[in-house]
Amino acid sequence: MRKAIGIAALAVLALAVLYGTAVAGSLTVTDETCMKAPPPAEGKAVREYIFRTSPYSKWQLWPGEERYKKGTRPHGAFVAVYLNEDAAQSVKDQNGMREGSMMVIENYSPGKLLTSVQVMYLLRDYNPAGGDWFWATFSPDGRKTLESGKLPSCLSCHAGRKNNDYVFTGKVKVM
Ligand code: HEC
Repeated sequence: MRKAIGIAALAVLALAVLYGTAVAGSLTVTDETCMKAPPPAEGKAVREYIFRTSPYSKWQLWPGEERYKKGTRPHGAFVAVYLNEDAAQSVKDQNGMREGSMMVIENYSPGKLLTSVQVMYLLRDYNPAGGDWFWATFSPDGRKTLESGKLPSCLSCHAGRKNNDYVFTGKVKVM
C-alpha cells in the first residue's frame, strides 16, 4: 500500500514538472514574439533591435554588393549595406520601400576598422516630409546612440534621391 502511494506521489510530481516545463516553454515563446516585434522610432529601441533582438550582421547584404564596398563621405572609406527582410523584399519587388524596411550601413576606416553603424528605418506617417524615414548613428559596438530621429544632416543629402525613396545604393523602384 505504501509503495502504491509512493508511486502515485511520484506520478503527480512528474506531471507537475512536465506541466511546469510546458507553461514555462509557452511563456518563453510569447516573450520572444514580443521582443521580435518591430521597434518604435526611438534611438535606444532601434539600437537594441538591430544589435540584439535581430542582429543586423546576420541580415543579407544589398544584393550583388560586397562587404567592403568603396564608400563616400560622410560614410566610411569602405561600407557594407545590410537589409532586413522588408527592405530586401522591397528591393526585389522594385515597387518602392515598404513599411518596416530597415537598412544598416557599416562605416569602415581606410584601415577597415568599423567606426560607426547607421540605420534608416521606414515607419508609415513618421515623417511624411522626409519619406517617413527614421535615421540614427550608433557607436560600432552598439552601446551608444550618437544621434537619432528626423535628422536634417542625413536628409539634406539623401533627399537628392527622393525619387528613389531616399536610397543611394541601388534602384528600389521602376521610375
Ligand atoms: C553627403 C551625402 C550623405 C549624407 C549627409 C548622408 N548619407 Fe547616407 N549615403 C550616402 C551615399 C552616397 C550612400 C551610398 C553608400 C556610399 O556611397 O557610401 C549612403 C548610404 C546610406 C545607407 C544605406 C542605404 C542607402 O541609401 O544606400 C544608410 C542606412 C545611410 N546612408 C544612412 C545615413 C544616415 C543615418 C545619415 C545621417 C546621420 C546619412 N546617411 C548621411 C550619402 C549621404
